[in-house]
Amino acid sequence: MTKQEEIQKLKEEKDAVILAHYYVRPEVQDIADYIGDSYFLSRRAVDMPHRTIVFCGVSFMGESAKLLNPAKTVLMPDAKADCPMAHMVTMETVERARAQYEDLAVVCYINSTAEVKSWSDVCVTSANAVQIVKNLPNKNILFIPDRNLAHFVADKVPGKRIIYNEGFCPIHEHMKAEEIRKLKEQHPSAKVLVHPECSSEVTALADYIGSTSGIIDYAKNSTDTIFIIGTEQGVRHALQQAREDAVFFFPETEPICVDMKMITLDKIIDVLKNGSNEIKMDDGQASAAAERTLTRMLELAQ
Ligand code: 13P
Ligand code: SF4
Repeated sequence: MTKQEEIQKLKEEKDAVILAHYYVRPEVQDIADYIGDSYFLSRRAVDMPHRTIVFCGVSFMGESAKLLNPAKTVLMPDAKADCPMAHMVTMETVERARAQYEDLAVVCYINSTAEVKSWSDVCVTSANAVQIVKNLPNKNILFIPDRNLAHFVADKVPGKRIIYNEGFCPIHEHMKAEEIRKLKEQHPSAKVLVHPECSSEVTALADYIGSTSGIIDYAKNSTDTIFIIGTEQGVRHALQQAREDAVFFFPETEPICVDMKMITLDKIIDVLKNGSNEIKMDDGQASAAAERTLTRMLELAQ
């Protein structure tokens, strides 16, 4: 039996569904029932009939799925796969802003721990941050943890005062604008599609800025055939499947999220067999508050 066949058999036995983010390895994307960006996956997590969700991604994704589905079993193929940015904000930052600004909403990127979500008023993803912030009644917005997504939102929603926090995704932040510029010189007709987690030096070079799904949809619906991609290299798999006729160039220093790449077929087989790495959330007030920020996002992003 191949690993793929073994996963299929175990999924049926355990009544499990596999969700995967676009940044995981191609062979993991290929066995997933659903692949998507963070927003799509959080939506999917709430309407799955299965008893068990195997989340091929980093811990904030599994935690979010569990908060939205407390009665379900959520398994992480690797419990150590974590997003460093999810931890890059302190409670003091939130408390200070709440004391300083009236009419404040604390908006947290879904790339945050459940604890960070519990301090916040509403959650967003890169796909819906602009829409949600624009529609909030509050004038002042503390945006945590990502300063780059916060800058992107501030550009698009000039009517609000955005208060920044100094968090960032190391993979997108360290993308070199110089390497994108070099690719543009080599391929002058290429369209540049980048993620809003990139620095403003990189986003300034883009024709389109959007979530991983946004980038894939742009390429899918475009008549262009050459693209320069400013996000994690895992999206290459879906891009190439969507546009066999197109060429995709990534920066020379390829952006790789080592945490996403920790997910392997062997680890998926292992958690399906043993039920290991189950996400546990206590059912206290903090979990209830974190769940409210996620549910509010799902309502406001409709
Ligand atoms: P999206 O899935 O919202 O594009 O975010 C990218 C990311 O960094 C996920 O960890
Ligand atoms: Fe976190 Fe960046 Fe990896 Fe996404 S790509 S999980 S934001 S470290």
